[in-house]
Amino acid sequence: MTWDADRYDRDQGFVSAYGRSLESFVPDDTDALLDLGCGTGTLTAELARRIPHVVGVDASTSMIDRARREHPGVEFHVADALDLPYDGDFDVVFSNAVFHWIHDHGTLLANVRRTLRPGGRLVCEFGARGNIARIDAAMGRAMRRRGLDIAVRFTFPGDDEFRRSLDSAGFRGIDVTSYDRPTPLGGGEAGLSSWLRQFYADDLAQVDEDERQAVIAEVEDGLRDDLWDASRGCWVADYRRLRAVAVR
Ligand code: BEZ
Repeated sequence: MTWDADRYDRDQGFVSAYGRSLESFVPDDTDALLDLGCGTGTLTAELARRIPHVVGVDASTSMIDRARREHPGVEFHVADALDLPYDGDFDVVFSNAVFHWIHDHGTLLANVRRTLRPGGRLVCEFGARGNIARIDAAMGRAMRRRGLDIAVRFTFPGDDEFRRSLDSAGFRGIDVTSYDRPTPLGGGEAGLSSWLRQFYADDLAQVDEDERQAVIAEVEDGLRDDLWDASRGCWVADYRRLRAVAVR
């Protein structure tokens, strides 16, 4: 997935807004925190106001470039979550809306654990099993009708599955919960189209622009009864979140 940092900030501002509730799981006496998958650095900068040493890392150079421009006083680096350059350096690894982009949770959690000091904690939230199930099913149907398929690009584990992954990686004090979090998309009527064009870009690239518009219109028609909120004039994505806290 190629990230467009400007578009991300404009259209997906709700991601950091929701991430704020995760900040309350960061202990007050935290001295050093790594924001893993920090994107354009909105939450990283907020955390840096109350935590002495905060570093944001992201795999996307365009996200890190923008984070550095927007928050010049905060430390940001490009880094791969599956190959983190840290060893016992942080009290907290914080991560919002990132782990569902990474398939290999075993290697990811081994990297997170190595990054933490003994007694340090992982505080994370991302897509749980069932996340965007209706949107994904509607997209799959529309593409299959054209003899095409969509890629499986997200990892949305169930609670027990993620608990087992944490346990296998050597974490203790594991607390995992998941919950529905219907999420209003910005952009009014065009909000779902914009979201699909961003997150299903590779699937939609299999067809030309006319057909792309037809696919999106079909997805919208199929989801309107369930996901269009006429009173607020917005699409509401069927997000489901998994929140986990675990100790090294
Ligand atoms: C999510 O945050 O759950 C998500 C975002 C983009 C695509 C799929 C899921």
